[in-house]
Amino acid sequence: MTAAMAVPDQMTAGTGQGAGAPVLEIDGLTVTLDQGRGRAPVPVLENLGVSVAAGRTVALVGESGCGKSMTALAIMGLLPEGFRIAGGHIRLAGEDITHAPGRRLRRLRGNAMSMIFQEPMTALNPVYTVGDQIGEALSLHQGLGRSEARARAIEMLRAVQIPAAESRVDNYPHQMSGGMRQRVMIAMALACRPKLLIADEPTTALDVTVQAQVFDLLKRLQAENDTAIVMITHDLAAVADMADEVAVLYAGRCIERGPVATMLERPGHPYTRGLIACVPHLKLGAAAAAEPEMLDDIPGLVPPLGQRAAACCFAPRCRHAALACTTRPQPPLEAVSAGSRHAVSCWRREEIGA
Ligand SMILES: Nc1ncnc2c1ncn2[C@@H]1O[C@H](COP(=O)(O)OP(=O)(O)OP(=O)(O)O)[C@@H](O)[C@H]1O
Ligand SMILES: [Mg+2]
Repeated sequence: MTAAMAVPDQMTAGTGQGAGAPVLEIDGLTVTLDQGRGRAPVPVLENLGVSVAAGRTVALVGESGCGKSMTALAIMGLLPEGFRIAGGHIRLAGEDITHAPGRRLRRLRGNAMSMIFQEPMTALNPVYTVGDQIGEALSLHQGLGRSEARARAIEMLRAVQIPAAESRVDNYPHQMSGGMRQRVMIAMALACRPKLLIADEPTTALDVTVQAQVFDLLKRLQAENDTAIVMITHDLAAVADMADEVAVLYAGRCIERGPVATMLERPGHPYTRGLIACVPHLKLGAAAAAEPEMLDDIPGLVPPLGQRAAACCFAPRCRHAALACTTRPQPPLEAVSAGSRHAVSCWRREEIGA
């Protein structure tokens, strides 16, 4: 066995030589859920490290329940009751916001960092016009007066390509289609030109053609504003389209990460290979060469909170699992070759040809 190769503690999309400090830096992030009545809290996220530079996109992928939304909510300071950051750090443009007071986080949310939620109808307020909702952040954070905020809301609606923005600005959310509401969410999230945008499944509620338009729009606005994006998705086709780097989560742990092309062509972890194989037209490189019966589906489910072993949680679903996989703690992320940004956490990495 070769000695462990050094992997930078975090993955920073787009911070090649000469790039500035990342907009978002997460290292060693551990989130737990309290169990009450003297029981030990259970881990929800363990030792997560992700960074994103200005103008770049990192995708967080993984099946339902693996911790994608919890990561987003931890960054935004919006963890639900009972969830707690128990370790690690979150920095936004160099500022440590891990345990920032509510007052500070309210200043940052909707301003330096903002989020697009999965379901626009739950995030938009039905009793206010879309113009008022876009304008609210501008009044709050940038001190714009009513007419200035309205003018800027119209400008944002134009930027997200809503036709007849001057009249649509007075619409209530229910007067718009799903695709338009999602564009309004984007307009709201980007109104204050945030440094960091978190998009949690931004297009799952939309049909495929509208999805493509929303991604194009996000890319264009990202380029204009040099926004760092964390994109959360189940959809690997969207990852291929949008992301520079990918982090794969399984049961609250990052099991593989790296540049998007490498990850899609030469995935190292059996779980990543399975995820990719579930999307037929993405079967590339090593994933396509591997045995199809293993890859066409990944049997089983992500173990629920409180039932996660210290050993690899994927082992019970993995056809490559050996004794070490169930008896030893999950290995750290290890670079696939010296200096590589592609890193895998798997005891059988070398044997299975990662
Ligand atoms: N309010 C809550 N109370 C208790 N457990 C929760 C709550 N919200 C999420 N969980 C649990 O926390 C874990 C991580 O959930 P999270 O919502 O981050 O998953 P996800 O990766 O975003 O999944 P999805 O793809 O379904 O959105 C899961 O085991 C989930 O069941
Ligand atoms: Mg989620």
